[in-house]
Amino acid sequence: MATVCGDGRRRYGSLVLVDELRATVGSDHVFDGAGTSHVVDWTGRFVGATDLVVRPGSLDEVRRVLAIARAHGRAVVPQGGNTGLVGGSVPLHGEIVLSSARLNEVGVPDVDARRIVVEAGATLEAVQVAAASVGLRYPVDFGARASATIGGTIATNAGGVNVLRYGTTRAQVLGLEAVLADGSIVSTMAGLMKDNTGYDLRGLLCGSEGTLGVITRAVLRLVPAHVSVTTVLVGCESVSDAMSVVGRVGRASDTVDAAELMSRRGVSLTSEVTGVGAPFDAAWYVLVESSVGEEQGDTLARLLSGRSQVAVAESPARRRALWRLRDEHTPSIATLGTPLKYDVTLPLASLPRFVDEVGEAVTSVAPTAETIVFGHAADGNLHVNVLGAREERAIDETVLTTVGAYRGSISAEHGVGAAKREWLHLTRSAEEIAAMRAIKRALDPEGILNPHVLLP
Ligand code: FAD
Ligand code: LAC
Ligand code: ZN
Repeated sequence: MATVCGDGRRRYGSLVLVDELRATVGSDHVFDGAGTSHVVDWTGRFVGATDLVVRPGSLDEVRRVLAIARAHGRAVVPQGGNTGLVGGSVPLHGEIVLSSARLNEVGVPDVDARRIVVEAGATLEAVQVAAASVGLRYPVDFGARASATIGGTIATNAGGVNVLRYGTTRAQVLGLEAVLADGSIVSTMAGLMKDNTGYDLRGLLCGSEGTLGVITRAVLRLVPAHVSVTTVLVGCESVSDAMSVVGRVGRASDTVDAAELMSRRGVSLTSEVTGVGAPFDAAWYVLVESSVGEEQGDTLARLLSGRSQVAVAESPARRRALWRLRDEHTPSIATLGTPLKYDVTLPLASLPRFVDEVGEAVTSVAPTAETIVFGHAADGNLHVNVLGAREERAIDETVLTTVGAYRGSISAEHGVGAAKREWLHLTRSAEEIAAMRAIKRALDPEGILNPHVLLP
């Protein structure tokens, strides 16, 4: 079900444009996007086209590439690891792709200040490894860690499995550096813990989806590594039962990092694809992880006593196996075809009713479609995947208006991108959308930066 959005046309750059870009970043780093992974998103659903992929190698080169694009009236799509799931990182309208692949330096962590300076194209995993090498941890984590970049995670304000305890990416970004559409550089790289001098440009760029600036560097907060981790898979008879587990552990323990919801279908499919066996069969599962430092005692086992289906990971290998059952949900679902993907947040109390209702809503418009739900239950964030459906628009409408009826959000963590821009009004008021438009116009009056995403 590949969707070639917009005109999808190739717009050949003039020779002058190509020469200027080559003179700026080097000939090896300017090339035609045809046939490369730069024009297709991770899902395969969004397929674009461009004659120009450009890989700048420094802040100054990013600035000059944007100046050249602007002078030639060409829009630019910033691209990191291209693992985004909403079609925001590919050139659906012939834009120039500005890849952060060469901006991948990872600094030495500052142990005392618990922070690290990294370039935007560094992968999430590279930062996690650097932090672990000095006994610290970067708390943002999710299955695409090996490819997703720091710039992409900031631009989407990525969530992941540890939001309950540490917050989203925005909460980890102490400072950043970005190039705006007019080539000016904004920087909060001093990374001050407190700074109340006017508008929070750092916070604004987090979640801006490449529409306000190209992020080039960041200062990230690190947290202490834990001396002991407890990972437990709990079997539940219903979503209500699962949410009671989530509520219980979340309420009673501030050492809980993650509480992830999975269904029987999701676990059995992932188990089949990965070869990792589930310890028991259940209608629903919650994967809970808590971790403690030297001073704290762990309470997870006590909180879950009395439950009949509980599997505690007894070794690091078993912990990794349980997490593979969760992390590999998205790739496993992709083996069945290209799903329609929805990434929504609901008020916690509405989650059980929503899961029933959304399944019924999909069936009502696409009787043969299959719906697989999983997600970050502790945050009220569900990933709804609909397979085997042709009725794309009708399903978008029924799923997203159901979310709207519960006063939820149509994007919890993946962003709006190209996929959800038409539905933004379900979560944001007309006044809020107008305010966002005003910000976009003020910072990018010519619409150079990722102009076809986010705003309707
Ligand atoms: P890209 O996909 O390249 O780009 C995403 C957006 O950011 C685009 O709008 C792009 O223009 C913009 N962008 C990229 N780099 C820059 C930059 N330097 N400056 C300005 N804008 C930029 N997401 C979650 O939040 N939580 C999850 O749990 C999660 N799990 C995932 C699991 C799998 C298996 C997969 C495939 C994806 C998952 N994602 C998840 C989605 C995705 O990994 C995140 O959105 C991630 O933050 C994207 O990073 P990226 O480097 O791949 O960005
Ligand atoms: C996950 C992605 C899909 O949580 O956000 O696996
Ligand atoms: Zn997720």
